[in-house]
Parts: sequence; structure tokens; C-alpha cells
Amino acid sequence: MASFVLTVLVLIGGNSNLLAASCVPELIFTDKTLIGLLTVETQTLYDDVLPGSEFYGNASFTLINGCDITTVVSDPYNLTQGPQPCSLNTLNDQWSVVNPPITYRLLAAGFSNISTNFNSLDFSGLEELSEEGKIEDRLIATHYDSSTNALHAFFLDIPSLEEFPEDEDTSRMKLIKTSSAKNLGQDYIGTTTSVTTTCVSATQSCGLHNYTEGLSSIQYNCSSLFSGTLNKIPGNGIDKMSGWNTSFYHNDNGTPRAISVNSQFNPFTYNVTGLINSYDMADLLNYGDPQAIDGSLVDAGDEDIAFALSCETTVYSVNYSMVSGNISHFNATPASGQEAAIIKAPLQVGLGSYVLFQQASLGVLLTSGTVAEAMGLAFSQVGLAYAGGAYTATPGSWGRLRWDEEITRIPKAPYILLIVLCFLYAGLVFFFTIAACVANRQRKVAETQALLVDRLVLG
Ligand SMILES: *[C@@H]1O[C@H](CO)[C@@H](O)[C@H](O)[C@H]1NC(C)=O
Ligand SMILES: *[C@@H]1O[C@H](CO)[C@@H](O)[C@H](O)[C@H]1NC(C)=O
Ligand SMILES: *[C@@H]1O[C@H](CO)[C@@H](O)[C@H](O)[C@H]1NC(C)=O
Ligand SMILES: *[C@@H]1O[C@H](CO)[C@@H](O)[C@H](O)[C@H]1NC(C)=O
Ligand SMILES: *[C@@H]1O[C@H](CO)[C@@H](O)[C@H](O)[C@H]1NC(C)=O
Ligand SMILES: *[C@@H]1O[C@H](CO)[C@@H](O)[C@H](O)[C@H]1NC(C)=O
Ligand SMILES: *[C@@H]1O[C@H](CO)[C@@H](O)[C@H](O)[C@H]1NC(C)=O
Ligand SMILES: *[C@@H]1O[C@H](CO)[C@@H](O)[C@H](O)[C@H]1NC(C)=O
Ligand SMILES: *[C@@H]1O[C@H](CO)[C@@H](O)[C@H](O)[C@H]1NC(C)=O
Repeated sequence: MASFVLTVLVLIGGNSNLLAASCVPELIFTDKTLIGLLTVETQTLYDDVLPGSEFYGNASFTLINGCDITTVVSDPYNLTQGPQPCSLNTLNDQWSVVNPPITYRLLAAGFSNISTNFNSLDFSGLEELSEEGKIEDRLIATHYDSSTNALHAFFLDIPSLEEFPEDEDTSRMKLIKTSSAKNLGQDYIGTTTSVTTTCVSATQSCGLHNYTEGLSSIQYNCSSLFSGTLNKIPGNGIDKMSGWNTSFYHNDNGTPRAISVNSQFNPFTYNVTGLINSYDMADLLNYGDPQAIDGSLVDAGDEDIAFALSCETTVYSVNYSMVSGNISHFNATPASGQEAAIIKAPLQVGLGSYVLFQQASLGVLLTSGTVAEAMGLAFSQVGLAYAGGAYTATPGSWGRLRWDEEITRIPKAPYILLIVLCFLYAGLVFFFTIAACVANRQRKVAETQALLVDRLVLG
């Protein structure tokens, strides 16, 4: 604009093609002041918001067809009342999960706890495994909700999160290509299912105590419903293993009552007892582990550690938005009891105990958190993994493309100053032209004018 005005004024005022051709382009392209003003910055640009089906990946998770979430179990304590949650399969009286490969691939991918920048995760390894069919396209990720101080484990789609550093590999995305587009990715809104679990220590209330000579410390008695011997193989559960037992119950007016696998509580509650051989008590005390001091962990002899937990798990339906790989909204509302039953059932029949047991061993080793915290997160993650086959990936609700582009800018204030200077300059030229005319077209004056103008511009 300024150069246009300048050109016009110079053409009118100077009536000199020489001036227009030599001075104006120089002012624009070589003037040090102007070039010095230019700044190059990277800006994130967004395309229109479009329905999720227009995008790459399947950002939402919904229950598979055939999951009955309308029938209500009228008596949660009646062990034979149906319907059986769709996350379970019963073959020859043996329980297993529906679509086991999904569960085992989810476990193979590992659990992700990173919650503020999912794009910074290196997905290339996961992508490769996914293409080889070794893991799912989805991951069990964790979101920390600061308003409720809860950790939500939820299904997250890997392809939807992918970011392409350069615009070379955009064939899979319906992109408007721009020559300098970098970090191409998509922002989206999706629906998913999340699980939170809080556990508190029940070691003391279940009667576990330190090993002393002649007094076994591996008897527990949480209630008349849940008592036993920790190092014996429990009579219940699928993955029968010694050192681990659980009891799913509902607090019925102050009395714990055993609930059926089909029962539909959200939240649902259970107690856990564990006997772990990782560190012995002396080591924990050496580290000053508060759990060893306050009695959350007890010495079970033979370098074993024992504990009991009381846990509560809630299942949520979630709408969330992912902006630049960061979750910006996470609207979680409690799911129906019917849906919670789908997450609960595999855990309740004892599937996943080995994974949980392993997490418990790690939980004792971790000095940063407590076993109760570690196991809370583990129950959420393992619960989702074992119910994974009941959920299928579908397109997100909305999305938009996002990319970075380098933008050349002239800051406003110097730019305006420049325009003012241009006008002054043009006025000067005009003045000299008039002066030249008045001076009776004397050749000498015209030459002086050209010189002066050149000096003004270039000097
Ligand atoms: C999304 O899901 C559909 C149907 O399940 C599947 O055919 C498609 O390949 C998936 N898309 C991606 C990018 O994974
Ligand atoms: C439990 O449910 C089954 C099937 O609905 C019914 O036949 C049975 O009588 C119930 N048992 C009790 C104790 O209510
Ligand atoms: C997971 O993230 C939460 C919240 O940021 C943090 O408190 C917790 O320690 C993390 N857990 C692990 C195992 O990194
Ligand atoms: C567990 O404790 C309750 C009372 O707190 C008692 O009635 C019951 O007999 C105990 N069970 C065992 C197996 O010791
Ligand atoms: C589980 O532990 C809690 C807390 O110690 C206790 O109130 C509850 O009765 C226990 N439930 C069972 C089934 O043992
Ligand atoms: C495991 O817990 C169940 C109750 O949930 C109980 O009946 C069983 O005796 C326990 N097994 C052992 C070995 O403690
Ligand atoms: C178990 O023993 C350790 C020391 O050996 C002690 O610090 C801790 O308080 C004891 N726990 C209980 C529940 O008595
Ligand atoms: C998610 O969004 C849908 C459609 O906008 C709405 O019907 C549903 O109630 C929302 N669910 C949650 C948990 O916010
Ligand atoms: C991610 O989003 C949250 C909530 O909107 C915000 O507080 C946080 O600063 C964001 N983090 C990054 C890295 O953008």
C-alpha cells in the first residue's frame, strides 16, 4: 500500500520514470530499515471445523453392538440373575473376555500416564507395532483432573494424535496443502469411557500385622465375607494365584454383602489383599517408607510384604477435546450401572490378577507414591484393558486440521511511521518538482533535484 501510494505520488510529482524505477523498488527491496523491520514468526493455523468422519483415525469409543445396557438386574445379590455383561464370554463354564486379542494388545502397548502433551509422545514405535498387528490403534492413557484430583484412565486413539512434521506424508489426511506447512495434525472432540479408582489402606482393619515368632501374619479377616490365608491359592477367581485375593461387595446399610458378577453398581467397591515378595520390611524402614511405619504395609516374614486395600471404582462417559495434543476439556459424567458392570465383570471374576499383582509389586517399590495410589490407577487401567473388547473405535464428533506456518510481519508502529515518511518524501519530491518547473525547466536545477532525491532515499 505504502509503496503504491509512494509510486503514484512520485509518478505525479516527479514526472520522472527514472525516479520511479530506481528509487521505489530499492526502497522496498534493499532498504536496510525496512528489511530490519521484517520479522518471521511461526504461527499455528487452523482449518474449518468439520464432522469427525472427515478426519483420519477413530477418535471416539463406543460399546460394540449387542451390548445390553438397558436390562436392569433387579437383585444385585442374586448370583444367578442376568444379563451377563458383554465384556465376558462364557465357554464351557469358563469365563474369558470378549475379543481377547484387544485386551492383550492393550496390555502390550503399556499404560500411558502423560497428560499434557500427547503429541510429544513418540508414536513411531507404537505405530510400527500397530501396523504389525502387535498392538491396538488405541492406548490406555491417563488424564489428571485437577478439579476433582482424580486420575482418569481412558481409551485414546493413536492415529488421531499423529502429527506430521513436514507436509511430505499427507496422503492419509485430507489436507489443504500449503507449501510451508509444518507439524500437520488434527484437533478433535471425541467421546470415550474413563475409569477412576480410589483405594485406601485396609491393612489394619483387615487384621494384618507384623510377623512375630509363632504368630502367623498372613491371616486376614476384613469381614465375615472376606477372610482367609494370604499365601494359599484362593478358591475364587480365574487367574488363581497365591498372595492375591479380592472381594467385590456392596455396603448394604452398613453390612457388606457379596454382589453378583452381573450386578450393576456405579461406583462399585471391593477389597484386596496382597502378599508381595519385592523388598523386605527392613529395607522399607531403612528408606523411611511411611507405609511401613503407619502399618499400611506389614512384614509377612520370608522377606514378604503384605497389605490390604479397600477400593472404589467409578466409570464415566466422557466428552473431551484434544487441542495441539493437549486435553483442554474433559467432561466426565458417571456412566450407567449397566456400563459400569461391563468394566467390573472381568475384574470380579479374577481376570487380570497377574497384571494387578505385578503393578502391586511395582507399587511397593515406588518410593514416590503409596501402594494404595499405585493400585488405584492400576485397577482403572487393567479394568479398561480387560473390557477393551467391548468397545469399538468410531470417528470423533468434530475435528479441524492444524499446522504451523512461517509468517512474515512488519510490526505496526514502525510500519505507520514508514508510511508517514513516504508521504513526507513524496511531498518533498512534489515540492522540488514544482520548484523545478518554476525554475523554468533549467537543466541544472533538474539535475540538482535528482541528486537530492537520490541522497534522501539512499543516504
Ligand atoms: C476406523 O474404523 C473403521 C471401522 O472400524 C476402520 O475401517 C478404519 O480403518 C478405521 N480408521 C483408522 C484410521 O484406523
Ligand atoms: C435369583 O434369580 C433367579 C433368576 O431370576 C430366580 O429364579 C431365583 O429365585 C432368585 N433367587 C433368589 C434367592 O431370589
Ligand atoms: C501420573 O500422573 C499423575 C498426575 O500428573 C501423577 O501424580 C502420578 O505420579 C503419575 N504416575 C506415574 C506412575 O507416573
Ligand atoms: C472375622 O471377624 C469377625 C468379627 O470381626 C468374626 O465374627 C469372624 O469369626 C472372623 N472370621 C475368622 C475366619 O476369623
Ligand atoms: C472391606 O474393607 C472395608 C474397610 O476396612 C470394610 O469396611 C468392609 O466391610 C470390607 N468389606 C469386605 C467385603 O470385607
Ligand atoms: C478369597 O476370598 C474369598 C472371598 O472373596 C474367600 O471365600 C476365600 O476363602 C479367599 N481365599 C483365600 C485363600 O484366602
Ligand atoms: C511393623 O514393624 C515395624 C518395625 O519393625 C514398625 O515400624 C511398624 O509400625 C509395625 N507395624 C505394625 C502395624 O505394627
Ligand atoms: C457429550 O456430547 C453429547 C452431544 O453433544 C451429549 O449428548 C452428551 O450428553 C455429552 N456427554 C457428556 C458426558 O458430556
Ligand atoms: C493443556 O490444557 C490445560 C487445560 O486447558 C492447560 O492448563 C495447560 O496449560 C495446557 N498445557 C499445554 C502444554 O498447553
